[in-house]
Amino acid sequence: MERPYIICRMLTSLDGKIIGDYLEEERTQYFIDEYEKIHERYGCKAWMCGRITMEENFTFGHKLDLTHENISSIPRTDYVATTDAKTYAIAVDPSGKLGWTKNYISEWSENRTEDHIIEVLTELVSDAYLAYLQKIGISYIFGGKEQLDFMIVVQKLKKLFSIDKIMLKGGGVLNGAFLNEGLIDELSLILVPIADGSTNSLTLFEFSSPLPKTRPVNFHLKEIEKLDDGGLWMLQNK
Ligand SMILES: NC(=O)c1ccc[n+]([C@@H]2O[C@H](COP(=O)([O-])OP(=O)(O)OC[C@H]3O[C@@H](n4cnc5c(N)ncnc54)[C@H](OP(=O)(O)O)[C@@H]3O)[C@@H](O)[C@H]2O)c1
Repeated sequence: MERPYIICRMLTSLDGKIIGDYLEEERTQYFIDEYEKIHERYGCKAWMCGRITMEENFTFGHKLDLTHENISSIPRTDYVATTDAKTYAIAVDPSGKLGWTKNYISEWSENRTEDHIIEVLTELVSDAYLAYLQKIGISYIFGGKEQLDFMIVVQKLKKLFSIDKIMLKGGGVLNGAFLNEGLIDELSLILVPIADGSTNSLTLFEFSSPLPKTRPVNFHLKEIEKLDDGGLWMLQNK
């Protein structure tokens, strides 16, 4: 079955960290702005993040209280609320923790459109959460019974929503799972000219998948651009 082309687009320090004190340095804001501009260059219809990144940036830790809901069993079948959104935000949230309050992420710059939310779940999710997603009009797909199989996930995104290209935007754990499953076609990296120096902060690819670790993945330089203030933008493909 066909799947979308997948571009992993991230910003890192010289030592490959995706979070850390270097992000608070005054110089870094320029590179964060460049990172957003590069998103617009790609014209991707869909982007994807892990539950932790979504929580930090979009639901801000909001928790839903669904305990009082008396819901009968809901079949574990995909739910497509719309197929004609201009753009989609895909949230990998295996057990349904994200406290969305609406079915879209608002445009946050003049060049971005409103993104319809698609949740990627396992069958372990509660009936109450599924009922809630349906109520507020969030689409959802199942990527496995207890564990996610991202090949199945991306094939479904192509088939159900006609998504041809996905921008994978972290964090490290989600990127690591895609790398391990051989699903990253292109790597678009902004390298900030600062070495963070911390030992235990997240890097570009973290391995914490239940699947066995595969071999290292080779990439080849396709384009490189010098940014102001000593930064780099690199495009690597497989
Ligand atoms: N520098 C950059 O360009 C950049 C870009 C994006 C994010 N970030 C930063 O990265 C940090 C978060 O990264 P992170 O690696 O901790 O988290 P993440 O990848 O955003 O989310 C991880 C969570 O997503 C779900 N998930 C991901 N892969 C899965 C898999 N294979 N199977 C099952 N569930 C899976 C799990 O949710 P559950 O825990 O609910 O099971 C997992 O805990 C944030 O601080 C964010 O700011 C930086």
